Amino acid sequence: MNENDEELTTFCDSAASLVEGCRLPVRMQGGDDWPLAEIISIKESRGQRGYYVHYVDFNKRLDEWVGESWLDTRKVQFPRRDGAPTGGTTTPKKTHIGSGGMPSEPRQLVSRPASPTLTHDTSSLVNGGAVLAAALQKKMNRKRKANSLDIEVAEPIPAAESETGDTIASGAATPTARPRQSGSLVAHGHDDLVTRMKNIEMIELGRHRIRPWYFAPYPQEMVNLPCIYICEFCLKYRKSKKCLERHLIKCKLKHPPGNEIYRKGSISFFEIDGRKNKCYAQNLCLLAKLFLDHKTLYYDTDPFLFYVMTEFDSRGFHIVGYFSKEKESTEDYNVACILTLPPYQRKGYGKLLIEFSYELSKFEGKTGSPEKPLSDLGLLSYRSYWAQTILDILMHSKPVGDNEKPIITINEICELTSIKKEDVISTLQNLNLINYYKGQYIISVNRQHEKAMEKRMLRIDPKCLHWTPKDWSKRAKCV
Ligand code: ACO
Ligand code: ZN
Repeated sequence: MNENDEELTTFCDSAASLVEGCRLPVRMQGGDDWPLAEIISIKESRGQRGYYVHYVDFNKRLDEWVGESWLDTRKVQFPRRDGAPTGGTTTPKKTHIGSGGMPSEPRQLVSRPASPTLTHDTSSLVNGGAVLAAALQKKMNRKRKANSLDIEVAEPIPAAESETGDTIASGAATPTARPRQSGSLVAHGHDDLVTRMKNIEMIELGRHRIRPWYFAPYPQEMVNLPCIYICEFCLKYRKSKKCLERHLIKCKLKHPPGNEIYRKGSISFFEIDGRKNKCYAQNLCLLAKLFLDHKTLYYDTDPFLFYVMTEFDSRGFHIVGYFSKEKESTEDYNVACILTLPPYQRKGYGKLLIEFSYELSKFEGKTGSPEKPLSDLGLLSYRSYWAQTILDILMHSKPVGDNEKPIITINEICELTSIKKEDVISTLQNLNLINYYKGQYIISVNRQHEKAMEKRMLRIDPKCLHWTPKDWSKRAKCV
């Protein structure tokens, strides 16, 4: 090993000698854990140093500013002397010690990457996510129980079908996905210091105050403020509450722009054309970027449709989440980006958005799949949706003719659900449902899965969807 390649692990008596790129145990907020963290940036204000840290095995949304007392300086790994990254992660190249506060970037088009990042940090979900991820894997791998219902698959299963966008199980990604040539939020493959750090402290959106998870390229004058104020209907942003109040006097919107194409109870969906409502679409992308890490923001929203889900009350239609969709996808993507705003997360809205996206695909008579890479939470949600939807089909399939057992083909599952074939196969494999028995593939469904189905209360009612798919290829030719 070259001398330059060595990492320097040393005792350092004070935090003063710490530099960016150092790794050391740091106390995580809201707990007594001291995971290994990397110092991304250091700032000094009134004689006090603040450290922006990334917990090495955790998702970036947990990155935070900490004070000196949160650092365990007894064992520090200094960055390599050649300036290369410590322990394989990117070490910032620039130093930002000083009074400037959190660095940020002016509004700009972010340069297009050569290839997207394909890491899914599923080991580090919020709320003890490592445990959750392990539990999920266990759930997926659960062995067939005695009281199972056997269904024959009248189609061979490819031996080593790669799971789309899935690196949970294997831990290694295959770089198959390529970024679109034009997009509103495009998968990115590089991290510079600026975009590695959260730049917005807090947003106020309607009655919610939300702490952002990631960097978003809001204009310079919006960063370093205690809070930015966003109109919940048109998504325009303002520096202060006063400015927003002035805006609200003029802003007459009480729902997103575009057509309301679905309404059931208090839930509505609005379809917004990224070309016709460019300002709204761009502001939606900016807002979404605060919670989406693996995408880079572009301002060309023309090729996209945006489906915004709202909840209605006497004050209007409040945004809950959305997904974007390419008007024409050469790769059969039916979702580009998907988001449930944090105050609404873990209540079933994510799977409702996913269900809606497949309902649109059913209307189009196509199968579809989400754009890759998926985030950790995206993968969890899709896996859960796919598993429940496919199990539902399997449990309700009936024996045909003289057959004792129901027979269903993979293609039939695809047709019924609009889920793309690779995703159906990977789901069956993940659930450990496929077995080879007497020369044929058998799917064995555990009756306990019925319980899991009962939990899903929020469902899309296709009767409430008033929508006709457009042929965008023809439209493009007309223009
Ligand atoms: N930890 C563990 N499990 C979670 C978490 C979490 N923080 N959040 C959701 N889940 C699980 C739920 O338990 C549920 O599974 P289950 O029903 O089997 O128990 C499943 O994920 C879906 O839960 P929902 O409540 O339906 O989904 P939610 O409204 O929370 O939205 C979403 C999911 C959209 C992924 C949300 O977490 C989000 O917006 N995240 C930030 C943006 C993002 O990562 N989007 C996906 C990017 S991939 C792409 O754009 C194609
Ligand atoms: Zn407004």
